[in-house]
Amino acid sequence: MIEKIEKINAVKGELILPGDKSISHRAVMFSAMADGKSTVKNYLNSEDVNSTVDCFRKLGCKIEQTETDLTIEGKGFGGFTKPNSVLDAGNSGTTTRLICGILATQKFETTIIGDASLSKRPMKRVVEPLSQMGAEIETSEKGTLPMKISNAKELKAIEFDMLIASAQIKSAVLLAGLHMDETTVVIEHSRTRNHTETLLGLRVEEFDGFRKIYSSKKNYPKPTEYIVPSDISTAAFFMVLALNLKNSGLLLKNVLLNETRNGIIKILQQMGGRIEIENTRESSGEKLGDLRIFSSRLHNIEISEEIIPNIIDEIPILAVAGLFAEGKFVIRNAEELRHKESDRIDALCSNFKNLGLNCTEFEDGFELSGEVINENILIESFDDHRIAMAFAILGMLVGKGMSINNFESVAVSNPEFLKQIRSITL
Ligand code: S3P
Repeated sequence: MIEKIEKINAVKGELILPGDKSISHRAVMFSAMADGKSTVKNYLNSEDVNSTVDCFRKLGCKIEQTETDLTIEGKGFGGFTKPNSVLDAGNSGTTTRLICGILATQKFETTIIGDASLSKRPMKRVVEPLSQMGAEIETSEKGTLPMKISNAKELKAIEFDMLIASAQIKSAVLLAGLHMDETTVVIEHSRTRNHTETLLGLRVEEFDGFRKIYSSKKNYPKPTEYIVPSDISTAAFFMVLALNLKNSGLLLKNVLLNETRNGIIKILQQMGGRIEIENTRESSGEKLGDLRIFSSRLHNIEISEEIIPNIIDEIPILAVAGLFAEGKFVIRNAEELRHKESDRIDALCSNFKNLGLNCTEFEDGFELSGEVINENILIESFDDHRIAMAFAILGMLVGKGMSINNFESVAVSNPEFLKQIRSITL
């Protein structure tokens, strides 16, 4: 579906955006593992999280679903049952890699498949540590889906030195670790999102330049109520829109402010963005608050290597902010962007170049400056929700708007994106 995006003059009002994607996936998984009934309130009702819900239904869980809430009858330790068919993770890397850590410990065989994009993404990164634990997992020759996970034999706890900055790899190993008496340790050198350790209450030790995270059977989840804050990655699109429009102001309520995810707010503030944080509080161990965003003049800044894992999902929309900011936008040390729902460096650079912008691509990032010259081109979304939404915001900020193909991909993380935009447009 081609979506024609129109220019917007100003936005005003308040929004409560849907629940955080990373937390919603984990809340579903931990509820399904626990012995008894859990509830997940304000979960993200999107294609990605629904892939996780479907997988756990196939593993024997009863899950009741409303627009905003889930009630999950968890199966307890060792309680999952062999699915009658393959598990389809759709477009979701988080579903695949995290569930792999759980399934590697089960006494039955499973196969995981995914859509065309997910079937290109690297899975060796989780297969390797899980194999060290004794799991038997087969992938395609290229190390991609489909993935066959064999009936678990004797598994052992490991100490895993994680060389790729990835919360999905970290979580896969820690979730497998929950099934063993001995303690599994993940050593993390760059700080990645910490929802797995926060929601499970895992022990974390901080050292100079690295941290150790511990999991064992003692940390196996118990039934509980999760209240999911609004997704900061979704909020980022609205922040960039409001900052770059004149006479605009937005209140985004209940936004996740976890310190491993709030880099986008810090960077936009350093770029001169007026974003005020109010009413900070905690829910399910996660920090949240309300964001007031005002029209601002932005300037580009140097983006440090340490903050990249914190803002990895926000880089497409940050690049759009950088384009409207004074000076050149530069992002480096972000090679991981090539392994997302699309190769996001290529997806961004090819569209920017087609728009007539000055864009130099590097293996680990790109530089961007100039002004949009060719407005009437068709933007290629590469079936990637964050590419589609980033260029939609760009289209709302330039003269004649913009057309974007396969726009339906936004349903992966925010099916109501355009409706929310309409509700705040003046
Ligand atoms: C996620 C981790 C990140 C992120 C993804 C969600 C998670 O991926 O990009 O959208 O929920 O653990 P990596 O672990 O591949 O960095």
